[in-house]
Amino acid sequence: MKITVVGAGAVGATCADDIARKALAEELILLDIKEGLAEGKSIDMMQTAALLGFDSKIKGVTNDYAATADSRVVVITSGIPRKPGMTREELIGTNASIVKTVTENILKYSPNAIIIVVSNPMDTMNYLTLKTSGLPKNQVIGMGGSLDSARFKYYLSRELGCSPADLNAVVIGGHGDTTMIPLIKHATWNSLPVTQFLNEEQQERVIKDTMGGGATLTKLIGTSAWYAPGAATAGMVESIVRDQKKLISCGVALNGEYGQQDISLVVPAVLGKNGIEKILELRLDDEEKAAFNKSAEAVRAMNNVLKETGVL
Ligand code: LAC
Repeated sequence: MKITVVGAGAVGATCADDIARKALAEELILLDIKEGLAEGKSIDMMQTAALLGFDSKIKGVTNDYAATADSRVVVITSGIPRKPGMTREELIGTNASIVKTVTENILKYSPNAIIIVVSNPMDTMNYLTLKTSGLPKNQVIGMGGSLDSARFKYYLSRELGCSPADLNAVVIGGHGDTTMIPLIKHATWNSLPVTQFLNEEQQERVIKDTMGGGATLTKLIGTSAWYAPGAATAGMVESIVRDQKKLISCGVALNGEYGQQDISLVVPAVLGKNGIEKILELRLDDEEKAAFNKSAEAVRAMNNVLKETGVL
């Protein structure tokens, strides 16, 4: 299996590193537009093989899309990251044309790839990739929900004083500070509802911290995070290439599910060898439904910017 990661910045390189350590690919290509960056990071990663004991082969290339030919899975991380105080949505002007060009280049050499879109604003970049690639909708998947769900579990574990691995918790909606919806009423601690152990104030704090999770890190680090985004993406790649059929929150094209269409939003889906194999439709209560529709409205407004600026 051949896998390509486009963008050797912090998120792309961390994702490639995780893919190599998990031995998910016979051939892993890391591509970047900046001369030498992907080559250098790939050699650095390959030099960990003797230390960590993996056999994956990583090859770094500068804008050489021919080297990505016949990739089964392609991860797109290209574009600029957030700076402190910026929303993901503010990146649209720069990132939309980058993501569009990358998608076109990838399809020239891997016309039937499964594409995972990480670039921000993810919901709109995934929609753009769906529209410009012409790929079946099960082959274009946005990364955001699994990262936000991991952050949700982190904040829940702190509040509960428990292991994050004992938690099940899902974020749906969008991958924006105000569009993501941490479903706290559905979250469980070894199948016990977390709402039994957290008061209203604690629940509100967890929701707020989860929604601001990315922004908090951007403020601390000075740019957006990479360890959890990289691991979340590699986890999606793993479920696809190993056909694990894991249930993962991700950006998917909705066609009537959740009462929405012509939009990509984050919902729980089963990821296997064909990409998105099943979309799970949750029975949301009125409050959750209203929040979901509000997120859809905000994402739709961002998607319209693509049309207004002529990208779509
Ligand atoms: C974040 C970026 C990857 O949430 O969207 O950290």
